[in-house]
Amino acid sequence: MNTLECIKNRRSIRRYLPQKVPHEVIEQLIDAARWAPSWNNCKAVRYTVLDKDEHLQELADTLVAPVNIHIVKNAPLVFVISNVKKRSGYERDGRLATSKGESWEMFDAGAACQTLCLAATQLGLGTVIMGAFDEKGIAKFIGLPENEEMIALVACGYPNEAPKAPRRKEVAEIVRFL
Ligand SMILES: Cc1cc2nc3c(=O)[nH]c(=O)nc-3n(C[C@H](O)[C@H](O)[C@H](O)COP(=O)(O)O)c2cc1C
Repeated sequence: MNTLECIKNRRSIRRYLPQKVPHEVIEQLIDAARWAPSWNNCKAVRYTVLDKDEHLQELADTLVAPVNIHIVKNAPLVFVISNVKKRSGYERDGRLATSKGESWEMFDAGAACQTLCLAATQLGLGTVIMGAFDEKGIAKFIGLPENEEMIALVACGYPNEAPKAPRRKEVAEIVRFL
């Protein structure tokens, strides 16, 4: 699969085979994600790996939004994506660098998430990014360091479905050539 095929083949996968993802493969995914670009190469994105059954059960039962319960219940692996605070979007002297303030944190985490998801696609794994969860509850559950902001969850595993691609807008609908 070349890069463009990988980009187009990636789908959000919400059903997984009951097969664990080996830690070497998880490390391969994080190895790819760390090559995502980041604000001033600040490298602030962090990955907490949840793959123990009791942790995933607790996450599904109490810490994600109802829409995501069935995903976490059958996923063999969930990444908690976080970002070290006061790096993305900041000058080295601690001042915010642009009018977008801290939102570059989300940007960096997004670039890292997509890189991880593409690497997973290449390795035959499925993923889905999840944005609906109990942020404070998960931060406490995983013992997230105080200086990190929780950003997103990414479920991952060997796919047990092959969903059709949801529609995208045509290029002509979204481009403006000036
Ligand atoms: C920031 C973000 C948050 C998302 N949150 C959820 C979520 O909470 N639950 C879910 O099932 N899918 C979630 N998704 C997946 C989208 O629904 C999905 O990417 C979109 O429908 C397009 O489908 P595709 O990824 O297969 O191309 C999220 C995606 C993004 C980028």
